[in-house]
Amino acid sequence: MQYTDQQLVTQAIEVAGRAYAPYSRFHVGAVLVGKDGRTFAGCNVENISYGLTICAERNAVFAAVAAGCREFERIVIVADTEVPASPCGACRQVLAEFNPDLEVVLSNFRGLSETFRLSELLPRPTAGILDRP
Ligand code: THU
Repeated sequence: MQYTDQQLVTQAIEVAGRAYAPYSRFHVGAVLVGKDGRTFAGCNVENISYGLTICAERNAVFAAVAAGCREFERIVIVADTEVPASPCGACRQVLAEFNPDLEVVLSNFRGLSETFRLSELLPRPTAGILDRP
């Protein structure tokens, strides 16, 4: 099953509505699409320590891996902003672990979107680390 970006944005807005974000009140939703066609949703879950907060994107990745999916083709990330919100560095690195060239669709709640390759957002994620002698 192939999903349109708009269908995935709708799903991501739904999951953003379940974000636990009492501290920032910034609700983020992410839907990750596996190469096998399955989708995995995540929302941000904050913590009173602040530092233990997990972003929507990483929660989507962890749900996918737990369900046995490690190959991804696209992620759609939504937030209620004017300019589509961009994933943090930690999430970029975690996504790059599985597909450094992932398609990344950023959208606001009105469906205004921009599409990138993860390699544009995080170039050379493993250079000098995994190619050690
Ligand atoms: N957040 C995400 O979940 N994803 C992003 O791409 C940006 C930031 C969350 C973390 C925190 O709960 C709140 O948004 C404010 O930074």
